Amino acid sequence: MAKLSLFALALSASSVLALDHAGGDHHWGVRAAAAAAESDTVTSAAHKASATVKEAVAASSTITAKPKAAAASASASALPLVSYTYSYADIPYMVNPYVSTDPDYRGPQSGYNICNSTTAGDDSRCQTLVANSISDFCIWGPAGTEKDQLLGDMEAATVAWCVDGEKWGARTIPPGTITGLQLMHTSAYIQYTMVLDITKLNFAADDTGGELDPHGADLLGNPLGGLVYSNGLPTGDNKTLVQAVEWNMFYDGNHACLKICDPSITDPFYCQNVYDLIGCNYNMPAAYEDKVFNECEGDLQDVVGVYTGTDGKTSTWSQGTALDPSSTLPYTPRIPASSNCKTYQSTEILGSATTSAGASATSGASAAASGGDSAAVTGASSGGSAAASGASATGSPSSGAGSLAVGSGLFALVAGAAAALV
Ligand SMILES: *[C@@H]1O[C@H](CO)[C@@H](O)[C@H](O)[C@H]1NC(C)=O
Ligand SMILES: *[C@@H]1O[C@H](CO)[C@@H](O)[C@H](O)[C@H]1NC(C)=O
Repeated sequence: MAKLSLFALALSASSVLALDHAGGDHHWGVRAAAAAAESDTVTSAAHKASATVKEAVAASSTITAKPKAAAASASASALPLVSYTYSYADIPYMVNPYVSTDPDYRGPQSGYNICNSTTAGDDSRCQTLVANSISDFCIWGPAGTEKDQLLGDMEAATVAWCVDGEKWGARTIPPGTITGLQLMHTSAYIQYTMVLDITKLNFAADDTGGELDPHGADLLGNPLGGLVYSNGLPTGDNKTLVQAVEWNMFYDGNHACLKICDPSITDPFYCQNVYDLIGCNYNMPAAYEDKVFNECEGDLQDVVGVYTGTDGKTSTWSQGTALDPSSTLPYTPRIPASSNCKTYQSTEILGSATTSAGASATSGASAAASGGDSAAVTGASSGGSAAASGASATGSPSSGAGSLAVGSGLFALVAGAAAALV
């Protein structure tokens, strides 16, 4: 019953959010509130929100009618997602199978972690992501099978979409989705940056994007129970799948970016999850060139938020709990220098999941320019234009990655509970 009730609340939240997307004025406020709930570092807003949920739930007779004994017996709960580590062979069916009568609790996860040929296909709910190489990787994508989905509505339920979905028991990234791709190998992390047509993953064309990472306000991750593995980490042997506990991924207009940190290198930390409103260009500065497919060795990026001013002084910028659309960032991120780039035809690396246009890269030149100016080469995306000016935070309330936070489970429950009271 608890599950059903929570599910109903989540459904209500979806309709509220859908209205909000159409509705204009409230949009930014919703994003700001959601961002506050999303931030790991700011808990007061989250606590306030959970109080609202409790009040709403208390007001609902169907929920309070549950016997108290049920609450006592459902006490098992998930630990923070980053505390679950498994060798690939020992992955459990679900990392987070836990049910709870706590209305704040978002679990259990919507999919599963053991993924194989029986789970592959267009409706796969595989929540184990593998990213080994430029030709063998997955990204997180929509959970539903219909068109026009919004990431903000289902961050918690996202599933693996892979170049070869059969291989990893997941969905296959459809042909023509990725039109530009770079894999950067560094000494502390690997990073995939791409230009893509998000509608081919069933996102709405104007989806405002968002962040996925193994944290979230409740530390249960987005997606819930999501695991990430690679045999190509900086200290990897190209054979053994090693779990990367820390990673993050953004959708940001027509850009997406996925950074996977080597678990043996923790200081400095390159996989922060507290800059959820400023998208790919700030979290993973790279060239984002369309129609170029390459992999390079790269210098380490600046730790997100840390920058060197014109006076040579190093400063740290903090996002805070909300970012006014007119606010300015004090810096444009530096794109790390790269070398030893190998350029590919898209057909060589992405198999059928390519566009013919993608096969046009011919020179061996590095796609990752070391000059900061090229951050904006693909300015079609909102995040790109923000970086271009080096000033505007996200351009407009509907741009940038911040709205990703709309989907945080806690917020969804608050919205759902509110809707249920109407
Ligand atoms: C394949 O995956 C399913 C779903 O996770 C699991 O139940 C089954 O045991 C797996 N099969 C093998 C052979 O691992
Ligand atoms: C793994 O592969 C990369 C790229 O092919 C190569 O540069 C690296 O040396 C390999 N590492 C090991 C341990 O073999």
